[in-house]
Amino acid sequence: MSAFKVAVLISGNGSNLQAIIDEFETDKSIEICCVLSNKQDAFGLKRATKAGISNYFIDHNQFSSREEFEKELIQVLDKYNADLIVLAGFMRILSNVFVEKYIGKLINIHPSLLPKHKGLDTHRKVLENNDVYHGVTVHFVDNTLDGGPICAQSKFEVKTKSIEGLEKKVHELEHIIYPKVIKEISLGKITLLEGKVIKI
Ligand code: GRF
Repeated sequence: MSAFKVAVLISGNGSNLQAIIDEFETDKSIEICCVLSNKQDAFGLKRATKAGISNYFIDHNQFSSREEFEKELIQVLDKYNADLIVLAGFMRILSNVFVEKYIGKLINIHPSLLPKHKGLDTHRKVLENNDVYHGVTVHFVDNTLDGGPICAQSKFEVKTKSIEGLEKKVHELEHIIYPKVIKEISLGKITLLEGKVIKI
């Protein structure tokens, strides 16, 4: 059987990308087919190169509109026939056209227990809100901001007042949950059906 192909979109450090690379290094049922970044200096591109994964810098500033930029992304993703598109710190909002094209095949990881704290600065918001718990969410992407159907969450008790401390803990959880969800989607154990997550 041919491998389940995963494309990863990044904008920065790529620690989640690294966790995915490490997890599937020896699992031949999953192939990271390409990595795309809209930032030239994204460290994740170096991680991809080191792992021998095709990677592309596609500068959104070079395009006249969001849709034109996305056309370029789509061209690469379709060239590789990606089965799943994984957003891992990709800092661009995607248009409805893109989201609709890949509905059910497009996932994101967000550093909060959604629906709490959508958008940026989630660790700060957790501290300001005196939240007892913080955590991470993996969700299918739909046309709402950080609002798509949830695949999985992982949480911990907030025991620090430091943003860095929360970020560290969140990353630890992210690096476990994201590869796990990718594997389950590849096995058909998590799917999106009529806007709802089905788990078997
Ligand atoms: C992660 O915290 C993720 O939840 C958010 O962006 C961050 C990316 O980190 N969407 P990295 O680039 O994977 O290290």
